[in-house]
Amino acid sequence: MKAGNIMDFRQVKENEEKAVLKNKNVVDSDFWRQKYHIQGIVGLINDPNGFSQFNGEYHMFYQWNPLSTEHKNKTWAHSKSHDLLHWERCETALRPDTWYSKNGVYSGSGIVIDGKLYLFYTGNVKDAEGNRESYQCIAVSEDGEHFDRWEPSIVNQPDGYTRHIRDPKIWEKDGKYYAVLGIQSEKLEGKVVLYSSENIKDWKFEGEIAGANHGKLKDFGFMWECPDYFQLKDEKTGKVVDLLVASPQGLEPQGDLYNNKYQTGYFFGKLDYEKPEFEISSEFVEIDRGHDFYAPQSMEDNKERRIVVGWMGVPEDEDFPTVKNEWIHCLTLPRELKVRDGKLYQEPISEMVSIRGEKMEFEGFIKGEKEIGKGKTYELIAKFNDISSDFGLKLRVGKDSETVVKFDFEDKKLVLDRSCGAQADKSVRKVFLGDRKDLELRIFVDNSSVEIFINNGEEVFSSRIFPSENADKIIVFAENETKVKLEKWEWQ
Ligand code: FRU
Repeated sequence: MKAGNIMDFRQVKENEEKAVLKNKNVVDSDFWRQKYHIQGIVGLINDPNGFSQFNGEYHMFYQWNPLSTEHKNKTWAHSKSHDLLHWERCETALRPDTWYSKNGVYSGSGIVIDGKLYLFYTGNVKDAEGNRESYQCIAVSEDGEHFDRWEPSIVNQPDGYTRHIRDPKIWEKDGKYYAVLGIQSEKLEGKVVLYSSENIKDWKFEGEIAGANHGKLKDFGFMWECPDYFQLKDEKTGKVVDLLVASPQGLEPQGDLYNNKYQTGYFFGKLDYEKPEFEISSEFVEIDRGHDFYAPQSMEDNKERRIVVGWMGVPEDEDFPTVKNEWIHCLTLPRELKVRDGKLYQEPISEMVSIRGEKMEFEGFIKGEKEIGKGKTYELIAKFNDISSDFGLKLRVGKDSETVVKFDFEDKKLVLDRSCGAQADKSVRKVFLGDRKDLELRIFVDNSSVEIFINNGEEVFSSRIFPSENADKIIVFAENETKVKLEKWEWQ
């Protein structure tokens, strides 16, 4: 046992329980609480962690500050589910109650080995002078509920880097374990490093595999957080492709790109374990075009699906009106990743249809605006054919609120405008789609978010919205007469 005092550590759980008791009623009374998104019961949540399937259930852990809506006191909250949509809250899995995580149990991942669930995470420590220490640690569970915590496996950083080293994402290959971690070089460049282990406890530094001023990539941010690495089989060509996902910090906006405070994107390439090196073969592509997406984590389930969930928020872009009701943030809906003909697609998981309730349909020609129904939490599929002008949808329309999803015909861009609502940030987000004759939008609207999948997941926008309480109109619009087919299902 090193620094830290047992009594203080007992206090950690008590403080959490007190904060939950104190704030739960005000949180529950908020009409912006989500219906099908993971959210903290009080306080702040951020990154998804330890996403895994264990004993037939999906497990999601997530960064959680139970004590306030600031980025402090990070624990690992824990929820489990049979269908990735109905989540049951479990006991908090990891708390900042060990000497090696006393200032926060930071992000990490999970893996199932021989019937046990292992979590690999970062213990964050600030010493008396405020200096950072970073410990990469394992916790193990036999029942998926209680975790035994092992003393740190990796202490601080390899030579040439700062103590910003965190967020291990683990996988197994040919009986050996590997993990990618986000790290910062002494020159203040964001990087990804690879570690390996024969026994999951002892880890060896293999080397730097990607980053800013590494290989073909020039300046690309001062820190890369939450890396993820996996392979997907191209459904068209049958070729297996490697993807490296990361959340770099410090990219400057470039037109429609990188408009959030921090970004998340992926590279196609090939991981060479020997060198080691992630040989990048594509541009960095932002995974999501919306206002609120960061630090996603993926896992492969027993149906061989690569499912990803992101934090529906971005560090330091967090002026949200729910703070006055003692909570902030949620995770995205789970999505399935696919590669077709060298391009990444993100599709809503097939389970989404299981929460469809009452159905409404509309088919016809639209010129001008038409209210076609109402709803606050629903799924909507809109198909527009023979496009010849601007068109789109207005969602959650009511007093002082509307969220506009528009195809800008001249610019050939899809535009998401959520400026009319209670959020402070009034900026719009856009993505270039090119010439289109037809367009399909599949949209999931929850009490305070929209997730828009364009043409079977070619592009996705995820954004929090804060409409007024009774804003529920759904309006379709088109400048020139446009053929529209809509199907909408209220969520059960
Ligand atoms: C990303 C991040 C991670 C860190 C965690 C702390 O949002 O900053 O790098 O582990 O959040 O909550």
